[in-house]
Amino acid sequence: MHYKDSKNFLDTPKKILKVNHAGEFGAINIYKSQIFVSKFFMKDLVPMLQEFMSDEQRHLDIFWKEIQQRHGVKCKSYWLCGLGGYVMGFVSALLGRKGIMACTWAVESVVINHLENQLVYLSDNEDVEAYDAVSSILEDEKNHRDIGQASKGATNLLYKSLRSIISLFTEIIIRFGMR
Ligand SMILES: [Fe+2]
Ligand SMILES: [Fe+2]
Repeated sequence: MHYKDSKNFLDTPKKILKVNHAGEFGAINIYKSQIFVSKFFMKDLVPMLQEFMSDEQRHLDIFWKEIQQRHGVKCKSYWLCGLGGYVMGFVSALLGRKGIMACTWAVESVVINHLENQLVYLSDNEDVEAYDAVSSILEDEKNHRDIGQASKGATNLLYKSLRSIISLFTEIIIRFGMR
């Protein structure tokens, strides 16, 4: 998605920050439910998922700090992201470890694509603080995606529809938040 100047009361950087903030809350909830299920069936995955979740918590704080700094707003879909994230994490974890990794890969791939387009917009508009906030999380998200990819979550054919549904849902919720 190409990021353009906002046509309503909230400027594009504020929209980007609120959408990313809500997205991080969604991500936290994905990992929270996956950790919950993994504690029963896939204990070895728990440390990695906890590490991912603490990355997302740090990202959430970065965006919230920047939102407050410029008197931005919390996204209307904040709680929806949390709920959607929890459900997506839960369902994917019930499909096993490849389900978990397929979910991570699908979400992060969509997110990274948006982050990169946001960076183009923010650099064109010389919003240094928002640019720094977005760029500071990019490496973590790439790392999450690559781990999802390495564990065949990205390629296993059986999980193709799971990946498609998750990608679609992630894309819709981001676009919805940017309106
Ligand atoms: Fe994140
Ligand atoms: Fe992430």
